[in-house]
Amino acid sequence: MEDLRIPTIVRKEAVTFFVNGKEIRAYKGETVLAALHAAGYGILNKSKDIGEGRGPLCGMGVCYGCLVSINGIQNQRSCMVEVEEKMEITTDETQTV
Ligand code: FES
Repeated sequence: MEDLRIPTIVRKEAVTFFVNGKEIRAYKGETVLAALHAAGYGILNKSKDIGEGRGPLCGMGVCYGCLVSINGIQNQRSCMVEVEEKMEITTDETQTV
């Protein structure tokens, strides 16, 4: 996927993390949500009732639209967690809002 970051911004050091097993590059200080968005991920989970795809809305920990599994712990708000080296993220149907 194309990197959607603004190229002229000076960033901290690069980190590598995994999304559904795929290696992705991010930068220290970015939230997991920002790194996912920059890598092109939009739908992060599905609604419990009708299975409709869900994604982030607020970006500040209120809406729960950005839930993912982080290092095996389900239902983590990706907008509230900084990305770390070797972090493992799962964006799938098991995440329910
Ligand atoms: S985007 Fe709303 S809680 Fe994360």
